[in-house]
Amino acid sequence: MNKFENTFLKNLILIILCILGSINISPGQTAMVNVEARETISLNGEWNAIIDPSGSGDYRQVWLDKKPQLKTDFFEYSFEGGPVLNVPGDFNTQMKELNYYEGIVWYKKPFNYSVKSGKRVFLHFGAVNYLADVYLNGVKIGSHEGGFTPFQFEITEKIKEGENSLIVRVDNRRLPKGLPGVGFDWLNYGGITRDVDLVETDVSFIEDYFIQLEKGSLNTVLGWVRLNGNQAKQEVTVEIPELDLRHVANTDAEGFAGIEFNMKPELWSPSEPKLYQVIIKSKTDVVIDSIGFRSIEVQGNKVLLNQQPIFLKAVNIHEENPYKRARAFSRDDARILLESAKELGCNMVRLVHYPHNEYMVKEAEKMGLMVWNELPVYQHIQFSDSLVPNKMENMLNEMISRDKNRGGVVVWALSNETYPGTANRDKELIELSEKCRANDSTRLVVHVTNSQTYRDHTFDIQDTLFLHSDLISINEYIGWYIPWQGKPSETKWKVAFPDKPIFISEFGGEAKFGNNDTPQDEAANWTEGYQEQIYLDQIEMFKTTPNLVGVSPWLLYDYKSLGRMHPVHQQGFNRKGLISEDGEKKKAWYVIKDYYSAEKDQIPK
Ligand code: GCU
Repeated sequence: MNKFENTFLKNLILIILCILGSINISPGQTAMVNVEARETISLNGEWNAIIDPSGSGDYRQVWLDKKPQLKTDFFEYSFEGGPVLNVPGDFNTQMKELNYYEGIVWYKKPFNYSVKSGKRVFLHFGAVNYLADVYLNGVKIGSHEGGFTPFQFEITEKIKEGENSLIVRVDNRRLPKGLPGVGFDWLNYGGITRDVDLVETDVSFIEDYFIQLEKGSLNTVLGWVRLNGNQAKQEVTVEIPELDLRHVANTDAEGFAGIEFNMKPELWSPSEPKLYQVIIKSKTDVVIDSIGFRSIEVQGNKVLLNQQPIFLKAVNIHEENPYKRARAFSRDDARILLESAKELGCNMVRLVHYPHNEYMVKEAEKMGLMVWNELPVYQHIQFSDSLVPNKMENMLNEMISRDKNRGGVVVWALSNETYPGTANRDKELIELSEKCRANDSTRLVVHVTNSQTYRDHTFDIQDTLFLHSDLISINEYIGWYIPWQGKPSETKWKVAFPDKPIFISEFGGEAKFGNNDTPQDEAANWTEGYQEQIYLDQIEMFKTTPNLVGVSPWLLYDYKSLGRMHPVHQQGFNRKGLISEDGEKKKAWYVIKDYYSAEKDQIPK
């Protein structure tokens, strides 16, 4: 029995330790890009777990993973003999008792490693929802907040020869000052939800690069390469063999080199999703990426892709594998969702309301689907809290850092349905827009609202946030939450920003597949016929919408959301999908499929 087990002193010391423990020793570094292209040792697979609903693991110092030494020793926890959880994956769908669980789960992964001289080692997480405290061999190496972006820690000095023990404290409890906050309309899947890798690099390596066309250009690449390490000053090259192109630059004392060169690429577009092999080399490292080159911009009331007006035929998608009813994380999961979007006739996918896994973004790009990336700055956000702006900026940087070389990504969406009256909302979101444009000026920056009014069959759009958004992006559920106030084809519009393009980012209604109308109760909501009618009416209304550049039905598949509690029609699912969670296409699916096939890239006059 050690000295800590039974004295007042123990409790005092433990409380101090807990306070210390909750202070981020070293927050996650911005993760290196394109980990997929690097030498990695995967730590995916089975992890031992301790489910800790009472949170007592903190004062039991579970991360020390103590083992009894003496016959009289005992510890009221152990990773051995307990549950095993798969990584990547949410924990909610892996054990019945965790279905609706929001709390702490401790994960442990023992792994063997042989230290290699001249090599650096990074521990990289694709994502952990929501709070992650990471321990290596009993020592805390860092923390991360945010469930949908990658982070990493350098462990070169901490990893040891032979057996190592990695422990992660995961906490998916909702935080009023979190992103998202407490209220959101999707299941709060917790866990180590994406890949975990050990990444080995040379002492000096290519930490980051940005290789994209300059804003508004079809043939000038304007970017940079950054080295990390003791040989910061080096010659670096960017090669595109297919274009017989080799550009040379020299990094400065900070390891940074600006990159600018001209070329005549086949441009990336939904109909021709051309990707080029791009080889970035330094004396001590090489990274190979597959990059699409395109330009995206707003000109007046139009969206131009490669300087040609385009109509955004989109659909909203949550990061959930409908058939597994679980958080999606793999390339196969991504293909299931994206192939349905392609089949629907989409040229864009709005990945809601948080950055999805990297496979989703990369597969979409390969399949010719433009990608709308979004931050979970969703509805109830405490903008006046002193930490929230920082959290938003961190998440923004992590999102952009990971996907900035993806030509398929055309939109950074920074907020959804935040409330105009909330303190500091405008100030913080305007600042966030500026930080986003400073970070990457080559894509559209958008805020989504539902703050418009609909009276006397007239939409009135006034939200000043749209002064800082490249699109007027509104969510409206006329025909479902709000009844029509007239014939859809006679809808009227008052828009405070007359020249800006309008994008209908959400519309639709619920129906349980198979709920079909019976003659006497025509128009019965929850039925496929009712949902179908909503879509037919919306398309009529779109013909009245000024400067309409695109639409995005809410949404592709029915998905899990615990707030949807109707025992017959919902059963914990948001049933606004065009497809059920069993892959059954509802009547409304065919309405949109026709609309997207008929209206080939229609352009507002
Ligand atoms: C909102 C919101 C979605 C939500 C949808 C709905 O507009 O953005 O996250 O799921 O409406 O009510 O179904």
